[in-house]
Amino acid sequence: MVENPAVVAALAAVIPDLSPAEIQDKLEEPKSSNLGDVAFPAFSLAKIMHQSPVQIAAKLADDIDQTGFEKVVATGPYLNFFLDKVATSASVLTTILGQQEHYGDQTGPKRGNVTIDMSSPNIAKPMSMGHLRSTVIGNSLANIAAKNDYQPIKINHLGDWGTQFGKLIYAYKTWGSEDEVKANPIDTLLKYYVEFHERAEKDDSLNDEGRKWFKKLEDGDEEALRLWRWFREASLQEFTEIYDRLGITFDSYNGEAFYNDKMDGVVDQLADKGLLVKSQGAEIVDLSSVNENLTPAMIKRSDGATLYMTRDLAAAIYRKETYNFVKSLYVVGGEQREHFVQLKAVLSLMGYDWADDIEHIAFGLITFNGKKMSTRKGDVVLLKDVLDDAHQLALAQIQEKNPTLTNQDLVAEQVGAGAVVFHDLMNDRTNNFDFNLEEVVRFEGDTGPYVQYTNARAQSILRKAERAVQPDDTQLDDPATWEIVSALSQFPATVSRAWERREPSVIAKYALSLARSFNKYYANSKILVDDDQLNARLALVAAVSQVLTEALRLLGVEAPKEM
Ligand code: ARG
Repeated sequence: MVENPAVVAALAAVIPDLSPAEIQDKLEEPKSSNLGDVAFPAFSLAKIMHQSPVQIAAKLADDIDQTGFEKVVATGPYLNFFLDKVATSASVLTTILGQQEHYGDQTGPKRGNVTIDMSSPNIAKPMSMGHLRSTVIGNSLANIAAKNDYQPIKINHLGDWGTQFGKLIYAYKTWGSEDEVKANPIDTLLKYYVEFHERAEKDDSLNDEGRKWFKKLEDGDEEALRLWRWFREASLQEFTEIYDRLGITFDSYNGEAFYNDKMDGVVDQLADKGLLVKSQGAEIVDLSSVNENLTPAMIKRSDGATLYMTRDLAAAIYRKETYNFVKSLYVVGGEQREHFVQLKAVLSLMGYDWADDIEHIAFGLITFNGKKMSTRKGDVVLLKDVLDDAHQLALAQIQEKNPTLTNQDLVAEQVGAGAVVFHDLMNDRTNNFDFNLEEVVRFEGDTGPYVQYTNARAQSILRKAERAVQPDDTQLDDPATWEIVSALSQFPATVSRAWERREPSVIAKYALSLARSFNKYYANSKILVDDDQLNARLALVAAVSQVLTEALRLLGVEAPKEM
């Protein structure tokens, strides 16, 4: 899709049967640039106008007001618009330099709150790759939502409740050591948890002990609560180190435990509405009336303990009451698809029509050089190590390319972490992919550092120019410039498409392609020559830097001015 208000207006004047929005939807980029800049396909009008698309295109070319365009011509069934390059360049650059980081903001009436359930790791376990993906995708979607004039609310729905905490408390009390936990909280707690399972395999009574301690926790037992709070705090501290390195913050850390006192209400509601059914001692909601293939939702186990689903029901209702969201997003791996289908089904059976506003934003698996980041098995890759390695790889390249750079360590962190985040976001989110750190941190190719480096290059030109940048309407109509201008003009449409598709990759791919166009131009033109187009060229460079920086910001990636 290409966005162009001038083309839409000209077409609307000669096609009364279509609304401007419908016309906009149909605009395409011509197959090749010598066919023009914007194409309108006439196929859909054939039915209404009772003529062939070729005839219609020819008639539109005769009727349309060509003022403001270089030319408008019919080519087969297409009406092709050649934009006035000089006027368009001047107007696009003036807009970008005037609006600065607000270029591409979708303004209008405020569109409302969007809750984004993201990251949500489980306490007392290392953060998995899945949680990392959820963190960066969620963060980018929050930025994109805000740019589209929604108010994002980032919620870290910590996995801080459930029978595993009963097991952990029992394990700690039975064979744990305070000093050991203090020295290395997550690893130690994980070790206790694994050991619990090993012992429980031989002696089933341990499971009963675990359940007992979880029951105590649910009932507010002082000792159980104290230990749980400590495990939670210590884990959170380790998670925060990662969030800080990625520059990610949350509006709420209300995790599963927060809903402990809110679940009775939900269970009562379900009972009142006649939705709760006893099945083998457990309480379930039958969902076959919504979809016959759907397995029932488990609300309470036979021992009375609540479940992940029960807490998600309470959370969904709480979020609606608290934030009155217009959309409620859950950025969670594809393996939980059924859980969210069930969640929505239960809520709609309860009569909540806003269940339709809940969206599971699923994503695929990633592996590192073929290895999984797992919490139980031996062959694991830790995120901290990944970020440290990325930092080192970035530093090595900086030292080679720019040995005199002063804040090398800071920039290496921005580039290293940026590379990891960018790579995560540049693929369609539902794809599975492998991560080869060396490729990901390279300054060339489809990488975050490539985009960052392009921006730094633009910044260096602006520094060398030593003058204020001001767009003017001098001629800028060579093909390389035009390619950049038309990419720049598509940024607002890209921002709204990224939101509509809930796809940060739309922004990442856009940034790569803009960077490529700019580098092509850079390689073939002398920018800093003092002629009468110098101002216009500098305006182009400044606009590219502005838009690349903003695209990177939307992804949650820093844009160092020098690297
Ligand atoms: N803690 C969960 C897990 O690690 C993810 C939670 C996702 N959010 C939610 N509201 N269910 O699988």
